[in-house]
Amino acid sequence: MSKKTDFTRRRALGLMGAAAGVGAVAGFTPTKFAIGQQAKVRIGTLLPYSGTYARLGEAITNAMVMRFAQGKDMLGGREIELIRLDSEAAPPKATENTSKLVNSEKVDFLVGPVHSGVAMAMAKIAREEGVMTVIPNAGADQITGPLCAPNIFRSSFSNWQPGYPMGRVLAEEGKKRVVTCYWNYGAGQQSAQGFKDGYADGLKETGGDGEIVKEIGVPFPDVEFQSVLSEIAALKPDAVYTFFAGGGAVKFVKDWAAAGLKDSGIELTGAGFLTEGVTEAQGEAAEGIRTTLHYADTLDNPVNQVFRRNYREMWGKEADVYAVQGYDAAELIRIGLEAVDGDMGARGEMVAAMENAVIDSPRGPLKLSAAHNPVQNFYLRKVTNGVNAVERIAVEALSAPSQGCSMG
Ligand code: PHB
Repeated sequence: MSKKTDFTRRRALGLMGAAAGVGAVAGFTPTKFAIGQQAKVRIGTLLPYSGTYARLGEAITNAMVMRFAQGKDMLGGREIELIRLDSEAAPPKATENTSKLVNSEKVDFLVGPVHSGVAMAMAKIAREEGVMTVIPNAGADQITGPLCAPNIFRSSFSNWQPGYPMGRVLAEEGKKRVVTCYWNYGAGQQSAQGFKDGYADGLKETGGDGEIVKEIGVPFPDVEFQSVLSEIAALKPDAVYTFFAGGGAVKFVKDWAAAGLKDSGIELTGAGFLTEGVTEAQGEAAEGIRTTLHYADTLDNPVNQVFRRNYREMWGKEADVYAVQGYDAAELIRIGLEAVDGDMGARGEMVAAMENAVIDSPRGPLKLSAAHNPVQNFYLRKVTNGVNAVERIAVEALSAPSQGCSMG
């Protein structure tokens, strides 16, 4: 924290205290324009800025910075300030890191994380402390399920969601023997479950038969894929469904091609993270890979085109789904703060505005479910000349199951 900011904040808090003192004598009720609201809105990001998910955290942050800059770094009449903390995508450090942002930095909003294991620890504190929280990636199903809460919102997806449509697509295409292969932690397991549910529904609807012949878990964040690839080659399934992202996704796709599996008749598919933000690094190895996700580079709507152009101009690289989710997290915060003219104390009104938001997202108009999770189209995409190009909508307006969510 800079000295100047520190001074401003203490001064504002001091003035607020003085105002409260005077108010107590005079029977004055502070309004939402109380002087303390002139302090900056503090937004704490708990995102990976190192490790295999570093590029995901960067894209989310870049897009938030871009969105806030478009509003001259003011929201609801207050200046905003970002406080960034590297989560290292490390669940064992998540409680301490979240507590640092909430208790030491006293942030008004928490934004993060990327990793579902970090999210579980973060959500626990967010629930206990009632901090306004927007999750710009981590898909842990529980957070918009049994652990849902009025102060927790998600601008991304639940892990089940991107898997389900890929399962349907493969079943509908008559793929009979399928392997799942994923980083073996909450996100990978839940993603594979979504895939299996979609595959089962697809088989039921088409009257086809098929089976998951093997499930292969790889410890996170390992990238030693040789034995896994040999196992897949020996099994000779029709297709493989994967969950990998960031640095691990680059390695998996390159290793797949290097092992000669690209032309083997075994189709490599996955949740779209496999080819998000990494096609340049993957090069030729990524060409032709089909995945399902709630975004595609080529989505033909004006918001997406302007978003991608602005992002390219500001950051000198291509936007991806993580950037979209960061942009929409910032947008959700803007909608909440503007509805209450910057008054963090007007919690009920702020939550209601965020719940009812229709976000003008690059992925298309975005609404949240009652559990605060996006209801969204899932696209079948195919890497074509290094771009995740839309093939078609795989499942329209897909909501996550969200069992056990009661906002109480
Ligand atoms: C997660 O841990 O929830 C996660 C991480 C990376 C992704 C998607 C989900 O790309």
